[in-house]
Amino acid sequence: MTAEAVTMARAIEHLRPADKRVVDDPYAHHFLSRAGRAALSAWSNSLTGRALRRIEAFGATYVPLRHRFIDEHLLTALDAGASQVVLLGAGYDTRAYRFADELDGRPVYEVDLAAISRSKAATIDAHRDEFGETNVVRVEIDFETQHLADRLADAGFVAGERTFFIWEGVPMYLTRPAVKATLDAVWSIGGEGSEIAHDMWHLVDDPGIRGTAKRLAPNALSVIGEPVTFFIHPEEVDFFLRRHGFTVTDLAMGAELQRRYAADDRPLIDDSLYVLCATRLDVPAD
Ligand SMILES: C[S@@+](CC[C@H](N)C(=O)[O-])C[C@H]1O[C@@H](n2cnc3c(N)ncnc32)[C@H](O)[C@@H]1O
Repeated sequence: MTAEAVTMARAIEHLRPADKRVVDDPYAHHFLSRAGRAALSAWSNSLTGRALRRIEAFGATYVPLRHRFIDEHLLTALDAGASQVVLLGAGYDTRAYRFADELDGRPVYEVDLAAISRSKAATIDAHRDEFGETNVVRVEIDFETQHLADRLADAGFVAGERTFFIWEGVPMYLTRPAVKATLDAVWSIGGEGSEIAHDMWHLVDDPGIRGTAKRLAPNALSVIGEPVTFFIHPEEVDFFLRRHGFTVTDLAMGAELQRRYAADDRPLIDDSLYVLCATRLDVPAD
């Protein structure tokens, strides 16, 4: 459900005027359930939806903004010579298709639970004429119980090469041991210059009602069976990552994302969320 929710955010972003979109994902709507498509259609076609969009009642939201941040780092890494891309918890991410030209045949390993991998493949097969050719390798895994390095090796991933790893909207749903095991695997198989981009949630310390609501929001996802289980404060994340072989090179809280990519929009951002890019160290810190 969370994979569909973030896809819905990108599908809604695609309805905004082209010059206002912070990311443009023309494929997102294909991955929505029947109910999701009905909701999108209502928003797209209803008088209220059109009126609210015309007056730009809603600005960019966090999900497209974090996607844009990661897009920018991915494109820089491809320019700099990254030879492969790994989407950890790929969901309905369509970067393999959106950036087919920039990838120029470089493989994109799309790693996720079997059920979502297969449903994504079926949707793409059903719309084959719209999705161009690209080099996608699907890797089925449960990060909680299986070894990432083994699963990627079986799929043809070349260890030791410069790789760009994307872990978007995923680590907050994992247990601490699975987060650490994933980072350790990424460090061990990534070559020099490899990077990882991921986002994170943290519990804001505002004691007021808004802060309380922000602290409750991640727990509310338990209701749909996808509890948020892992948090790190942005001031502490570099310390944590260094111990797993990475150091933060860029970090943006919600307000910074908005400043960079949607400065003229109405703010719809939340500083309990942030996104970062980190680069591989030769040796993890003690
Ligand atoms: C919020 S979605 C994000 C999807 C995608 N990265 C995006 O931004 O569109 C979280 C993804 O993590 C995957 N995921 C969650 N727990 C997982 C696990 N234990 N093993 C493998 N994938 C997992 C889900 O299946 C889902 O596709």
